[in-house]
Amino acid sequence: MLLSNLSRYIEGANIPVETLDGKIVKRVYFNNSGTALALRPVICEVNKNIPFITYTEAAGYLGKRNTKKYEYVREIILDYVGGDVDKDEVIYVHNSTEGINLLADLFYQEDSDQVVITTSMEHMANYLPFKSRFKIATVDITKEGDLDIDDLVYKLTIYKNKVKLVAVTGASNVTGIGPPIYKIAQIVHDYGAKILVDAVQLVQHRPFSMKPHNNSSHIDFVVFSAHKCYTPFDGGALIGPSKFFAKYLPPIQGSDNTSFVSSEKVIYAPTPHRYEAGFPNIFGVMAMGAALKFLKSQGLKNIAEYEKRLYYYLKSGLESIPRVIIYGQESNNIIIPYISFNVEGINYSDVGNYLVYEHGIEVAAGIPGANIYIEKLLDVSPEEAYRRYKSGNPIGIVRASLGMYNTFSEIDRLIKALRMI
Ligand SMILES: Cc1ncc(COP(=O)(O)O)c(C=O)c1O
Repeated sequence: MLLSNLSRYIEGANIPVETLDGKIVKRVYFNNSGTALALRPVICEVNKNIPFITYTEAAGYLGKRNTKKYEYVREIILDYVGGDVDKDEVIYVHNSTEGINLLADLFYQEDSDQVVITTSMEHMANYLPFKSRFKIATVDITKEGDLDIDDLVYKLTIYKNKVKLVAVTGASNVTGIGPPIYKIAQIVHDYGAKILVDAVQLVQHRPFSMKPHNNSSHIDFVVFSAHKCYTPFDGGALIGPSKFFAKYLPPIQGSDNTSFVSSEKVIYAPTPHRYEAGFPNIFGVMAMGAALKFLKSQGLKNIAEYEKRLYYYLKSGLESIPRVIIYGQESNNIIIPYISFNVEGINYSDVGNYLVYEHGIEVAAGIPGANIYIEKLLDVSPEEAYRRYKSGNPIGIVRASLGMYNTFSEIDRLIKALRMI
């Protein structure tokens, strides 16, 4: 099925914006990797429910209604990521950064002396939570910007029996490259470890499944953020085996995550609630459920196909401009429509400012979270990156990250603007 233009479902796409010279143009939003614009059906769902707000656990019809809706989103999520209702738990988090920190805390409770393997491709959200708690080993990338699987195997071998978790991105927020997560899962399981897939840039773009628990390619843990899936709120989920989550103490303590407390005894609520202390993110969660339902109704395969066409159009447009240098696009594993580039002789932030102020085109300009990957793609040593940072001229890139509602004519505008720079 061909997708019809989805921008009509998006709040804030195509709105008029003023450029520096006073012209009114239609906004082009190419920063979907940073945060996506909001879906109208999501906003409708939230608006519909606002009149019924009450404390979730409050006695009475409304409390029950809210609790039911809030809890039901766990089922939507499990279905969306192919989790197992009997074996997996969905823990609501405010964003994936929080989810990964939570998981790192639990692995730390299990064994603070373990080695965690992460990779050079990661967003810092899937790197620093481990680096700050554990000894880590970082898998390198190839010259094409792909994950170096031989290096993963090498690291698993040298740290054999010390590695319990391998944390890897499902798709890079810089190059759109998707490491072969199922092959990685098999390798990781052969070494007796578990895999976390940071699916923050994956689940809104293409079909994803954790696969059954008895499959050697099973993905043990998955995390994603709702705001990248077209909600305007915080919210996200960490999904993994219920048995694992049942074993540990909640790192965040306080409101609403216990079943009994006296001055002598504390009994924590069962999972997932023990990990969700504090006032629940009722509307963020409802919005997340509505967004995933919408994405599923359009068909993730259809979304992926449409975005692939957008991607190739963008790539050939960028390649046709002699001064544009694009990064990591020689890989055969690009699975989402994101391209990072620089314009020869012009600072990335000047390019970003030029596009938004003079043409109403929003892109990212700087280091969008994946610091180590960008150093490697730009072939800059850590020392040089630090020297550039200290001198007030840090390294960076411009990134166009497309979503399901972007159009070919919006890409034409970007390419035309870049030709004129
Ligand atoms: C690949 C990846 N992982 C994790 C994150 C962190 O997401 P959040 O800021 O929603 O926690 C991002 C944010 O851009 C990302 O691109």
